[in-house]
Amino acid sequence: MTRQFTAAIVGVGVAWLAITTLAIDANAARTVWEGVYTEAQATRGRAVYMQDCAPCHTEDLRGFSTAPGLVGAGFSRMWHNTSVGEMLVRIRTLMPCDRPNGLSNKTYLDIIAFILKSNAYPPGDKELDGELEALQQLLITAARPNRAPR
Ligand code: HEC
Repeated sequence: MTRQFTAAIVGVGVAWLAITTLAIDANAARTVWEGVYTEAQATRGRAVYMQDCAPCHTEDLRGFSTAPGLVGAGFSRMWHNTSVGEMLVRIRTLMPCDRPNGLSNKTYLDIIAFILKSNAYPPGDKELDGELEALQQLLITAARPNRAPR
């Protein structure tokens, strides 16, 4: 009797786990590991970056003085588990320092494509684009999520 009861509890537990795991996976946000920008876009972004950002953040994106690095550990520390949308808003409202919001939305996205490429996130066949709301669902994670691509 006790054994049957335990088996039933374990069965329910396993079913519950399976259901919640599926639910989490179905709702999981997209991440920047899924090829969310194109090579051409990153190349455009690089040109703007070199002109408008590199004077402070340096050509190798490692940052200088109070301008934070935009690659490697510094990048991960600052951006892990935030979204591309949040990055867009922060860069747009603060940068370039001397003229915030001074570039077009498309150009800011090109620069972000270049920053993603510089952090070894893979390119894809579609440009980084879209409504802010969708970009806020696009997560920056330091490590590649451990699940099959969709
Ligand atoms: C005149 C120097 C200067 C230029 C040009 C500049 N930055 Fe910055 N940037 C800074 C400084 C200083 C900080 C740190 C203080 C701050 O956040 O205002 C910063 C902060 C940042 C941050 C972190 C923002 C946060 O949320 O704290 C990002 C990302 C960034 N810059 C990206 C860029 C990009 C992209 C460009 C080019 C479009 C750019 N910066 C141009 C000096 C500069």
